[in-house]
Amino acid sequence: MTDDALKTPTDIKSNAAKTVAEALNAILADSFALYLKTKNFHWHVSGPHFRDYHLMLDDQATQILGTTDAIAERVRKTGNTTLRSIGDIARHQSIEDNDEEFVPAAQMLIELREDNLKLVEKLREAKDIVDEAKDNATSGILDEWTDLAEERAWFLFEASRNA
Ligand SMILES: [Fe+2]
Repeated sequence: MTDDALKTPTDIKSNAAKTVAEALNAILADSFALYLKTKNFHWHVSGPHFRDYHLMLDDQATQILGTTDAIAERVRKTGNTTLRSIGDIARHQSIEDNDEEFVPAAQMLIELREDNLKLVEKLREAKDIVDEAKDNATSGILDEWTDLAEERAWFLFEASRNA
C-alpha cells in the first residue's frame, strides 16, 4: 500500500483539503474528549438535582457522540485520513480531561459549559478555513454542529443558575 491508497478523489485543492482535515480532526478529538467528560459527569454527578443533571448530561453525551461519525467522514470524503485510536484523540484534543475523584455538581455544569463554548470557538475557526477551501458541504454541517454546541452551553448555563 502506498501513501496514496486512502486518497479519496476530490476537486478541493489538496493543500486546502489538508487544512480542513486538520481543523476537523481537532474538532473530532475534542468531541470525543467532551463526550467522555460528559459521560464521566453523568456517571459521577451527585446531590439534590441528581436526576435532572444525570439525564441532561446523558442527552448531551448522546448528541455529541452522534456528531462524531459525520465529522470523521467529512475528512475522508475530502481525501484525507482521520483519527484511529484513543491515543490519537489524546494527541489532538485541546479540551482537558477531568480525572478528579470528586467534582461538585455546580462545577461540572460550569466546566462543561466552558468546554462547549471552546468547541464553538473551534467550529467558528474551522468555518473560516472551510469557506476559504470552498468546501460547502462541511461549511453547512459546521453550522449544525455549532448550533448543537450552543444549545448545550445554554442548557448548562440555565441549569447552573440555581446550582
Ligand atoms: Fe447512563
